[in-house]
Amino acid sequence: MSQTNTNTKNTLKMHEPVLLQEVIGYLSPKKGERYLDLTAGYGGHATRILELTAGEVVLVDRDDNAISVLQQQFGGHGDVRIVHSDFLSACETLESEGETFDVILADVGMSSPHLDNPERGFSLKRDGPLDMRMDRNQPLTASDVVNTYDEAALVTILRMYGEEPKATAMAKAIIAARPLETTQQLANVAKTVWPGHSKVHPATRLFQAIRIEVNDELRQLEIMLPKAASLLRPGGRFGVISFHSLEDRLVKAAFREMTDGTYTSQYDLTVKKPITASQDEIVSNPRARSAKLRVLQAKIKTKERRS
Ligand SMILES: C[S@@+](CC[C@H](N)C(=O)[O-])C[C@H]1O[C@@H](n2cnc3c(N)ncnc32)[C@H](O)[C@@H]1O
Repeated sequence: MSQTNTNTKNTLKMHEPVLLQEVIGYLSPKKGERYLDLTAGYGGHATRILELTAGEVVLVDRDDNAISVLQQQFGGHGDVRIVHSDFLSACETLESEGETFDVILADVGMSSPHLDNPERGFSLKRDGPLDMRMDRNQPLTASDVVNTYDEAALVTILRMYGEEPKATAMAKAIIAARPLETTQQLANVAKTVWPGHSKVHPATRLFQAIRIEVNDELRQLEIMLPKAASLLRPGGRFGVISFHSLEDRLVKAAFREMTDGTYTSQYDLTVKKPITASQDEIVSNPRARSAKLRVLQAKIKTKERRS
């Protein structure tokens, strides 16, 4: 993982952080506490949390564009370490270094600039190359998935990552339309499989499936969750914001497993039900509509914990 140490400046309004008040309320950052942001993005949550902790912070993101913005925003401050890495590798490195934290946040998925910049290939509505990589250093792109996976592999990812009811028809249509070069061409394939009008764009599930495959999103999340929790100090809080049911299911299951009520369990669930956005927030930031926050707390007294 590559990293820089840098200084706090004004937040750039490129991405509106979701559930900000709820994150502050439930993660309750206090002066002098150490903060780890596993998906720092454009620094929205980090800026507010840093105002409250004024302590050491590690900011992680796998996107080079987000890292450049974080470097401008927090440039030069000795207490801020910026790490360009996926969050799974970052947790492994931090664990090997013996690092521990009072507050950890993972606000998973895409940022607004991913969707707004057609060049990144995430947008259903703006034409661009079939890319969809959050980390543009990795070799696998959406074009590789769409143009080289066989029918069985496409059907598997469409079912697992898109919950696409017409997975076989969609896979066949993709293969028949090859070579596909742009996001609009791919979206048009979905329209042939789902003709007519519907509230949800016919390519929504297809794009989700391809994106999750390209970025290995669900495997990363599932393995990262217990690793990140193990970095908590006694009494530390770990919040995860997810944006669709596949992600939330993994978070719910992992948090349930870590708080199974046995004598040896090291964590408590802060709230049983996920926290969702207020109507006011949804009106001002429609991305918040599907956001769910779950929070885990490390118990204060456990024999095995590192301090
Ligand atoms: C919803 S945005 C986070 C926004 C941030 N909380 C803010 O307030 O600006 C999600 C960010 O997580 C990053 N990301 C997604 N999956 C990741 C992973 N596995 N490892 C590291 N970063 C990841 C994306 O690149 C994106 O910048």
